[in-house]
Amino acid sequence: MADNVRFRVQRQDGRDARAYTQTFELPLVPQMNVISALQMIAANPVTVDGQETTPVSYDCNCLEEVCGACSMVINGRARQACTALIQNLASENGNTIDLRPMSKFPVIRDLFVDRSRMFEALKKVRAWIPVDTYGHLGSGPQITPETHDVRYPLSACMTCGCCLEVCPQINPASDFVGPQAIGQAMLFNEHPTGAMTAEDRLEALMGPGGITDCGNAQNCVKACPKEVPLTWAIGKAGRETTKLALKRFFTKKDKNGTG
Ligand code: SF4
Ligand code: SF4
Ligand code: FES
Repeated sequence: MADNVRFRVQRQDGRDARAYTQTFELPLVPQMNVISALQMIAANPVTVDGQETTPVSYDCNCLEEVCGACSMVINGRARQACTALIQNLASENGNTIDLRPMSKFPVIRDLFVDRSRMFEALKKVRAWIPVDTYGHLGSGPQITPETHDVRYPLSACMTCGCCLEVCPQINPASDFVGPQAIGQAMLFNEHPTGAMTAEDRLEALMGPGGITDCGNAQNCVKACPKEVPLTWAIGKAGRETTKLALKRFFTKKDKNGTG
């Protein structure tokens, strides 16, 4: 492997600015990852052509693949920059590493995108357990090992956006909540207390931008770095929303005396 590695970075100076590409070259340091490479570029932001420029903007927080903030498209695949090791990536693409922002989210600057769409979707599907007091409520309901086994893998979601990046149903014009929000709706519906408000979450998934917008291509589950069981969640949400729609249909008929 060569001693130097090149970084072809897609840059954009602001939300509505035109995108352009700059290439940087760095010495290959063992164990360096994409975030440490971006830090090295920031310390000396000069392109391979000798042009002085600004440091590349990106988002990050935990640096251990837990927060999801550093997600970007690296050599064509959406993943976390903090765990993307340069020595592995360099050999994939002729010693050049391609860095782009995720394409399904608005660019704030360079590799830093606005992931609000996902947080708005969590609000829409009410992905939380409501409390109506801050007083002492006693011990909560017991969670069986079986429920724990279902809920734990769903709880690993870090709102990174990789599943939305590969989903053909997500685009700026669509209001599809996306696979991550469906997974989180099922996470809270499976909780014994959350189950008391399960119909509110299902109702949100029955409306515009809900479960029927999923084309079932299953790209999402393959792209998820946390192996969140998205296909299971989408299947479960589909069955539960159908059951609720039938229940409402027959309840209405009974009320009208036609059932
Ligand atoms: S199954 Fe396909 S269409 Fe549905 S959320 Fe996943 S990637 Fe998107
Ligand atoms: S489901 Fe997986 S890919 Fe999607 S946001 Fe959560 S962790 Fe990321
Ligand atoms: S910085 Fe948190 S996942 Fe990379």
